[in-house]
Formats: sequence, C-alpha cells, structure tokens
Amino acid sequence: MLHQREQWSSRIGLILAVAGNAIGLGNFLRFPVQAADNGGGAFMIPYMISFILLGIPLVWVEWALGRYGGERGHGTAVAVFDYIWKKPFAKYLGILGVIIPLVVVVYYTYIESWTLIYSFFSLFDKLPDTPVSAGLKDYLKPFEEFLVSMIGANSEGMFLNPPLYTYGFFVVTLLLNLYILHRGVSAGIEKVAKFAMPAIFIMAIILLVRVLTLTSPEGRNFLDGFGFLWNPDFSALKEPKVWLAAAGQIFFTLSIGFGAILTYASYLKPKSDIALNGLASASVNEFAEVILGGSIAITASVIFFGVAATQEIASNGAFNLGFMALPAIFANIPYGQFFGFIWFLLLFFAGITSSIALMQPAIAFLEDELGFSRDKAVLTLGIFLFISAHIPIFLKGALDELDFWIGTFALVIFALLETITFVWILGKDKAWEELNKYADIKIPKVFYYILTYIAPAFLVIILGWWIFTELPSKLIPEHINGWIARGFILLTALIGIYLVKIAWEKRNGRTSA
Ligand code: TRP
Repeated sequence: MLHQREQWSSRIGLILAVAGNAIGLGNFLRFPVQAADNGGGAFMIPYMISFILLGIPLVWVEWALGRYGGERGHGTAVAVFDYIWKKPFAKYLGILGVIIPLVVVVYYTYIESWTLIYSFFSLFDKLPDTPVSAGLKDYLKPFEEFLVSMIGANSEGMFLNPPLYTYGFFVVTLLLNLYILHRGVSAGIEKVAKFAMPAIFIMAIILLVRVLTLTSPEGRNFLDGFGFLWNPDFSALKEPKVWLAAAGQIFFTLSIGFGAILTYASYLKPKSDIALNGLASASVNEFAEVILGGSIAITASVIFFGVAATQEIASNGAFNLGFMALPAIFANIPYGQFFGFIWFLLLFFAGITSSIALMQPAIAFLEDELGFSRDKAVLTLGIFLFISAHIPIFLKGALDELDFWIGTFALVIFALLETITFVWILGKDKAWEELNKYADIKIPKVFYYILTYIAPAFLVIILGWWIFTELPSKLIPEHINGWIARGFILLTALIGIYLVKIAWEKRNGRTSA
C-alpha cells in the first residue's frame, strides 16, 4: 500500500512555494552579473528567446513529470523514468534528479550563509566604509578584502581558512533549512514561502525606490542603468558565448534540469492544473529577475561607477557586484547600513526558499523509495550535507568545480533526458494531452511544436556547443582539489545508484512475495 503523501494546502501557497524555489540568489546576484558581463542589452534578446523556447517548455515538462509521479505516489525522476520507460536502466538515469540538486545545495547553502553574515554585519555597521572619492580599484579593495577574509581565501596552499564565525553562520543556516524541511511540505515549505515571498518583494521594492532616486556627482541617474540593460544590441546574436550564457541563466533561474520542480509538482492535489501554475510561477520568477533583480545591482553600479566599470566588476567574479560593489555604494549613502541590511536579508530569504527546494528531492527519494519517515530522511540528509559542506568550505577551488560539473553541465544532460522521456518515450501526443489535462488555460498549439522539436534541438545544440568550447580546457583540473571535488561527485552518484538498486530489490521482493 502506498503511504499517504503530503500535499500543498492551497493554490496560492503552491505558486509561492514554486516561485520561492525559482527566485533565488540567481535572480539578484547571478542575473545582473551575467547580463553586465555579456553586454547588457546584447544579453537580453538571447535571454528572452531562451525563456520562450527552452524555459517555458522545460518548466512544463517538469511539472507534468512531477504530477505524473505524484499521482502514482512518487516524487522523484527515479520512479517517474521507471514508469515511463519501463526499462530497468531508466531509474538509474532518474537518480540524476536527486544527485544534481543534492550536490548543488552543498555549496548553495554555504553561499546563502554568507548573505546572512553580510546582513548582520551591515546591521551592526561592521562592513568596511570607504569614501567614494577614491578610484574604483581602491574603493572596492576593502570590500574585496572583507570577502576574502570571510571565506578564508587569504591563506597559502590548498586549504581555505575561514574564521569561526563563517563556520558558525553556515551551521545555523543549514540547521534552519533542516528545521523547515522537518516541518514538512505544507507546514514547513509552504508556510515559509507565504511569509518570505511577500517579504522579498517588499524589500526589493524598497531597494528599487532607493536606486531610482540615486544620482552620481557626474550626473548619472537610473536612466543610464536602464539604458545599458534595455537598449537591444542585435550584433550579439551571432555570439555563441552570449547564447550559452543566456540559456544557462534561464536554466539556473527557473530551476529547470535539477528535478526540484518535479518534486514540488509531485505534491499537487489530485486533478490539479499544471499549465497555468507552471506559467504563473515562471512569470513571477521573470518579474523578480528582470524587473527587480535587473534594476537593483546593475542600475546602482552604473550610476556610481559607470557602464564600463560595471562590466569590469561583473567580469571579475560572480560575487563582485552583489558582495562588493553594492556594499561599497551603501557605505556612501545616508542610511546605507539599513539598505545593506535589507539587500542581504533579501538575498538570504531568496536563498533559503531555494535551498529547501534543492534539498526536497533527496527527502522525497528517501521517503517514497526507501520508506524512511520524514524525520529520518531529514536527519540523513542533514548528516550528509554537514559532512559534504566541508569540501567547498575548506578546499580552494572546490566550489567552482562542483558548480561547473553539476551546476552547469549535468543539468543540461538531465533536462535532455527529461524532455526525451516526456516527449518521445511517453509519446508526443500523450505528452501534449498530459500537459493539457485539467488545464486552466488553453496553451497555444505552437507550444506543441516548440516542446516536441524546437526545445530538444535547442538543448542538443547548447550541449554540443558547450562540450566543444568549454569542456576541453576543463578536463584536467588545475589542482588536486579539483580531483577531490570530482571524487565526491562520483561517490555521491555511486551511493545514489546503490540506493536505487536496494529500493527496487525491496519493492520486487514485496510484489513477488
Ligand atoms: N533558481 C535558483 C536561483 O535563482 C537556483 C536553483 C537552481 C534552484 N536550481 C534549483 C533552486 C533547483 C531550487 C531548486 O537562485
């Protein structure tokens, strides 16, 4: 007999939870950096095309696969692939939908804890404050030094040496995540989303208003920032690098190709719509990304430092805009301490509603396939994450290595597997029917063709191009830590495969007995 699976308690709660899943550090930190680093207006066209041709169809694929699994009492791609393929190997491919979010959350939670550190430090005025008169390089320097010392990157050798408070904040962040998950889907995840999402929007709007009223001594204002992002540059359309960045951002921001949306959708009530729910949550995410995420960091930085400097800051590192340029700006405006506090608290809220989503597939797997109780699943996950987190916390370069293989590469493979499973193995007409079942909107027929042909072709091209251009230079890691990170990924995958094997042996034993 199937155990009673949990369910979302309301539609608004469901949409907020899925929006919380998607709206994360990616919207407020990664998007501005990607956009600025890829030419602002040049980035936006491939970005929007990728949203329509890849983002929306893949969001629907994951919702559909998730509802399909939930109807059968299962919440991960492991069982869903098994049902649809009816081949023994398929469930082993499905474990990617547990491994990918699990590995990503090992470092995502760590970065999330930095935002908590920064928000406390802003509140208590412990961040550096350099006057704006110095040149850009000198100006950001204290902020760079602060970041470097917070993560302990100023040490020699292969180890990072973070101070105790960094470690402490990480442990608190992890425990908070686990506590929410222990409360469960509706009393934990949904409840947190109902509080955190409105809070995120309010904080973002406060920051937005502040940014819109900023001016620089040189006379720049928000229009310069908007102009940078919103003046389209069609010449960039022929740059594969910009397309890769745009498609990669669409994946990351919508949380597709991780299996996490699939898991959330498996907790739908019976006979629920997915067409409108999927579109609504993706749209809320895009609003938070291009309108809120796009107007805060980029605009503030363009006003203070100008376009060229903003591009340079973004190209120097993924964290430089959010963790250096913005605190530097806040240090030079009235009540900057307060705005800094709000900015980092916003990031923390956005981060935590995503990290719990990244953790839930593993919980669902342990519960649904191995019969764990929720508390036992949360405890097992907690032990695994606590131990694993020492890799990105203490080994130089390990975070980037994990992010490259799992956070950039593996998810495209998994997205392709999901699309193949849904569109070709289930069958294109059945897939279309599945998507439109109980739908509250009528999806235009052109999406049938986008879903069946264009999205998979787009994925194959991206994957091929990526393998061709990015992979060769990364095959041999620069450092032993790269091998350690890869060893960790391999070990996690092997454990996953082994658990799938056990789960199915148990199951078959049960049915034949
Ligand atoms: N979309 C999240 C962000 O913008 C990050 C993310 C990627 C994610 N994949 C996910 C969150 C899967 C939850 C589940 O930051």
